[in-house]
Amino acid sequence: MPPSSDPTIFRQTLSSSKNIIILSGAGLSAPSGLSTYRGSVDSLWSNPDVVKYSSHTTFAEDPSGSWQFYHRRRLLSLDAKPNPGHAALAALNLPETASRLIPAAFSPPLHVTQNIDELSLRSLSTLPDGVVADSIKRLIQMHGSLFRTRCLSCKKVEHSYERNISAALGDISITGGPVDIPVEKLPRCGGDEWSGSNRYGRCGGLLRPDVVWFGEVPPLMGEIARNITKCDLLIIVGTSALVQPAAGFASQVQTHGGKVAVFNIDRSAHDEDADFLFLGSCDQTLPHVFDVVDVVKELCE
Ligand code: APR
Repeated sequence: MPPSSDPTIFRQTLSSSKNIIILSGAGLSAPSGLSTYRGSVDSLWSNPDVVKYSSHTTFAEDPSGSWQFYHRRRLLSLDAKPNPGHAALAALNLPETASRLIPAAFSPPLHVTQNIDELSLRSLSTLPDGVVADSIKRLIQMHGSLFRTRCLSCKKVEHSYERNISAALGDISITGGPVDIPVEKLPRCGGDEWSGSNRYGRCGGLLRPDVVWFGEVPPLMGEIARNITKCDLLIIVGTSALVQPAAGFASQVQTHGGKVAVFNIDRSAHDEDADFLFLGSCDQTLPHVFDVVDVVKELCE
């Protein structure tokens, strides 16, 4: 049977679901002006640098080029804003919206995002104080974050929205070509002012972006897998569903009787097997299909 595109029937399913998971991809951030990886003419994967710098070996061979690549993506994501699609998903954490739309759910949805731009995290931060902390606990950024670094020596993970996490990167423009930055001028544990300490968090070690490169296992996969086994409604937003392990979530959920809803601007892998399919830009479809247009307007003000 082809997927339904009836919002009323979808909301009936939503209202009886107990363990809801959202899986999102680059399409959720596309309306915020950030490129997706595949499909469109200016997609990230059409840029050879994306392929090159999405690997650990490149970072080991060319930390300067890697950091310049990730610095530019940090600036683009910092300058982007969450869109109504992010806000519609965030709204499911509001008590009054949750009691209206998902009264049977044990908790608001777990949101597993493949995105590293932190726009979903920033959208949750606009929620009222009483719900922000718990909402953020239910967000898993499975491919890491452009705004976290990890020290290769002491392993300390730091979070920063600083535009330039080392002075040398401050000279790099979003559109400029690569320059050669000596490794001692790249982001280091303890910052530019490191003066020889070997303390945890100030050890002077080279930092890497805390993102998942190809060949690396996304952290928190155990927590994600445990939730997928209980999931009775998987809502898939803006992903081509081509990259494992996320690409396998839909069939796992349906295997144990759960339902799958796909929100995408275009057809995507195996969407014909979904129970619901809503085609259109997610900043439009999510607020309307979830019937949260007014709440989204307030959150986006
Ligand atoms: N609204 C909804 N969907 C959209 C929109 C939009 N406005 N714009 C694009 N899309 C859809 C595209 O049709 C496509 O199916 O978003 C999807 C983006 O797919 P990809 O570019 O492959 O991105 P994603 O699925 O997130 O990639 C998964 O692959 O390269 C790795 O680590 C990278 O996390 C990434 C993973």
